[in-house]
Amino acid sequence: MISKRIVAFFAAAFLSLGISTARPDEGMWLPMLLKQLNESEMQKKGMKLSAEDIYSINQSSLKDAIVSFGGFCTGEMISAEGLLLTNHHCGYGQIQNHSSVKNDYLTEGFWAMNRQQELPNPGLTATFIVRMDDVTKQILAGIPANASETEREAAIQRNIAKVRQESTAGTHYDAVIRPYFYGNEYYMYITETFRDIRLVGAPPSSIGKFGGDTDNWMWPRHTGDFSLFRIYAGADNKPADYSPNNKPYQPKHHLPISLSGVNEGDFTMVFGFPGRTNEYLTSHAIQEIQEVSNPAKIKIRDTKLNILNEDMKASDAVRIQYAAKHASVANAWKKWIGESRGLRKANTIARKQELEKQFNQWASADAARKQQYGNLMAQFEKNYKALEGITISRDYILEAAQGVELIKYATDFTKLNELLEAKAPQQEINAQLERLEKGIAGFFKNYNAPTDKKVFVALLSLYYNDIDQKLHPEALKMVRQKYKGDFSKYADEVYSKSLFTSEAGVRKALADIKAGKANPLNNDVGFQLANSINEYYRTQVLPTYTQVNDNLNLLYRSYVAGLRQMQQDRKFYPDANSTLRVAYGIVEPYEPVDGVKYKHYTTLEGIMEKAASGAAEDYAIPAKLKQLYDAKDYGPYGVDGQMPVAFIASNHTTGGNSGSPIINANGQLIGTNFDRNWEGTMSDLTYNPDQVRNISVDVRYMLFIVDKFAGAGHLVQEMTLVSDDTSGLPQVDARKKVEAAKPELSKKELRRAEKAKRKAEKEAKKKAKEAVEVD
Ligand code: ARG
Ligand code: ASP
Repeated sequence: MISKRIVAFFAAAFLSLGISTARPDEGMWLPMLLKQLNESEMQKKGMKLSAEDIYSINQSSLKDAIVSFGGFCTGEMISAEGLLLTNHHCGYGQIQNHSSVKNDYLTEGFWAMNRQQELPNPGLTATFIVRMDDVTKQILAGIPANASETEREAAIQRNIAKVRQESTAGTHYDAVIRPYFYGNEYYMYITETFRDIRLVGAPPSSIGKFGGDTDNWMWPRHTGDFSLFRIYAGADNKPADYSPNNKPYQPKHHLPISLSGVNEGDFTMVFGFPGRTNEYLTSHAIQEIQEVSNPAKIKIRDTKLNILNEDMKASDAVRIQYAAKHASVANAWKKWIGESRGLRKANTIARKQELEKQFNQWASADAARKQQYGNLMAQFEKNYKALEGITISRDYILEAAQGVELIKYATDFTKLNELLEAKAPQQEINAQLERLEKGIAGFFKNYNAPTDKKVFVALLSLYYNDIDQKLHPEALKMVRQKYKGDFSKYADEVYSKSLFTSEAGVRKALADIKAGKANPLNNDVGFQLANSINEYYRTQVLPTYTQVNDNLNLLYRSYVAGLRQMQQDRKFYPDANSTLRVAYGIVEPYEPVDGVKYKHYTTLEGIMEKAASGAAEDYAIPAKLKQLYDAKDYGPYGVDGQMPVAFIASNHTTGGNSGSPIINANGQLIGTNFDRNWEGTMSDLTYNPDQVRNISVDVRYMLFIVDKFAGAGHLVQEMTLVSDDTSGLPQVDARKKVEAAKPELSKKELRRAEKAKRKAEKEAKKKAKEAVEVD
């Protein structure tokens, strides 16, 4: 018999080598493949559910409580009456839209004390997944092996349209079909989208955004980053346009909420809609990101943030005008800094090179493989070489040139100018005029020309000095000749003459165009500048960029297919692509640097410490929170005189996972995901189990704020609170058969539903695009 001591010795030896069986797992997994790929491992880590409990097409399951919130975040159902929990930063736009100086919900918070007070949000959607299918065969049907990429893509688009149509005809459902593993596989998600989503509650920003940019992407964290919405449905419980007669939606499942909290080592999973990752990039790409692209983008945003900081400090008006812009510029900036450091710390380039060496050896060991994969690495090399100068030009155009508000705003008038020059039908011109007119007030409300002028001088100087002269657009050449590269002088000219620096200027220009006077855009110095840069982008950057990326997509398709053959024991997960995924891991502390260990949770204590330090404006707190703290009035939500606030675990998450439920071993809700730690932000490109942590609001802090702070206990009443190990699954008698996608609507209803669907899609796309652009 082996003695216990020997076992303990081996366990310790394994741990010291970093080989622990309880190691958190990397990956964002497809719900329908959990049984095959992950179930046993999840159970080994402590999960008491089956894969079928998480995702099932035969009965209601956890997935029926998860929604894509507006196409850019995740939300979860937490009551039988459609109550939806997501992040404060996900509902921020809606909260802001309902806010005015008189009803400043951003500052004061908002709580609907009854259903009548819940606020509708036109354009906002919540999308459930009805089921998913592997449609690889149908999508790749009829494509000859020797088809060119263009032919292949065209055939795929035809197949996708056909399968979507066949799968949803006669239903109010939609179908989303996306490529996985660079087009080696295709999966379809059948979706149901609700369109009447109302705001129910939001804490003041001093709670929901506590720590602001100072703490963003950081642990230890103390943000109550949550907000509450409610899904409304028609009388038949199906999606409907907004109507005061709509009723709270009754979901197939809502997550019971655990009051038991989290302990180190606990199993957790995150169920949501991660946006975009690139885990299979080659060393060439990582090198580019780490050594060229990230440093350039960080430098440009550094410069811009310094100017914004200075002007925001000097003027309250500017501070308010630029708050949201500053936050979004800072969000990606800070992430890239962490990402580059994390890539370096994880030795990513060297590790990738090692893998590529192995791949080449494996490929050369067999004639057929050599034929198929032998040339791949050389091809990667060649294509990444072809991007030299292109990627960096693109970065400077998008970050530096388009980082100047005047240039970005003038770009918006390109279409109008084209129509005027082409003497297009008046109707089309009017449509543009109308669109642009709508945007004027919004733009100038948050625009300060003197600040933008400083940004102009600084950012265009960077563009001019950092990018090879051979790659300069005409406008920069002109600055060299006419202004000897002095952008202050050039700025004086642009900001004194361009119509885009004032609301009156833009309004007058549009009025002149309406009145049929000469087109004022063509002669405007600001418009000319924007046009020159955009023209350069369109003709000198984009064609190569697109072509090479098409080539690379094909190479990656082959590379990933090869890797999966080579590493048969490794489980592969596809890159995130805004479709429903499951990540799992355990509640775990980490060591950010040698000699420092961060605990796995934070408490209200830390909020008071930060507030008392006065270290940042971001640490101001509401008086009521301090009172509750002083009185230790935590109700049933505190433990041992402490109020838990946030915790970390090793789930693999990314942008879009914000608002995702974090679920315990029994399927109960324990928190809401909202961020990652700074040391772990490279997880979009490579996962380092020692460093990658997702950050969640402890669900008990959410309950405490709703109940004790806001006095909105009626909302807690409708939730299902549990404090034991009871299963978090739908009760057996409530496990209704999920309806098959069968015809259920009249032709007319169908047309209406489709129109609404398209509108919602367009809206979501626009939102997503805006989100990407500002970040
Ligand atoms: N870093 C988080 C996520 O990328 C949340 C950002 C919102 N908070 C902020 N202070 N900007 O997107
Ligand atoms: N904060 C991110 C989001 O908004 C989540 C992340 O990137 O970890 O989705």
